[in-house]
Amino acid sequence: MFITFEGIEGTGKSTQIAKLAERLGQAGRAVTLTREPGGSRIGVELRKILLHMDNQDLCPQAELFLYLADRAQHVAQVVRPALARGEVVLSDRFAWSTVAYQGYGRGLDPELLHRFNETAVDGTWPDLNILLDLDPETGLKRAMHRNQAENKNREEGRFEAEALAFHQRVRQGFLSLAARHSDRFQVVDASRDPEEVFAQVWSTVEPRLSPRSG
Ligand SMILES: Nc1ncnc2c1ncn2[C@@H]1O[C@H](COP(=O)(O)OP(=O)(O)OP(=O)(O)O)[C@@H](O)[C@H]1O
Ligand SMILES: [Mg+2]
Repeated sequence: MFITFEGIEGTGKSTQIAKLAERLGQAGRAVTLTREPGGSRIGVELRKILLHMDNQDLCPQAELFLYLADRAQHVAQVVRPALARGEVVLSDRFAWSTVAYQGYGRGLDPELLHRFNETAVDGTWPDLNILLDLDPETGLKRAMHRNQAENKNREEGRFEAEALAFHQRVRQGFLSLAARHSDRFQVVDASRDPEEVFAQVWSTVEPRLSPRSG
């Protein structure tokens, strides 16, 4: 099973995915926890370019192709082999982030992006996308406090530095994608405290787990 977490900055994706990995481990499942960008060795290099605050001059098309390169490498080297081993794969962001950010956020054609994604994932689409939904003001505030605590403002702050209107477009983009592909999306209210959010996440995931073999 392949599950992704999507949503704008600071919605709690990394927090919730860690909780889910732990719970699945307790349930005896083998889990691969990964992320985009940066899920593969080469992707780690691409992540530095994509998120570094100093790269404000990265043009939208170059940004797009770097994300797609990261994804193609991630799927081929990490996601598909883990699924083949029978593991549950959890990815912190995946293909829908491209449609939301580069499409709804940057203004590139979402249909075209969907076709590029098809090339990048090469048939490996997630079974479930959990969209953590939150207003951008709250999300950015959470992310800012976290960055200050972890001292990583410049390393990974490029998107957080975007205007509020950008994040609002991305949020609305995610919500329309979730409505259009409702069989593959679950929208979760991310404004509650982390335990309440996780209760919703688990109630979505648990019934979809296949019975354990052996
Ligand atoms: N439900 C919550 N309520 C309040 N604070 C939260 C909640 N979930 C996470 N946080 C805190 O908000 C900050 C951002 O959370 P987290 O890093 O999990 O978000 P993220 O979606 O992974 O962000 P990014 O998109 O920047 O990777 C962290 O400091 C985290 O501890
Ligand atoms: Mg995160």
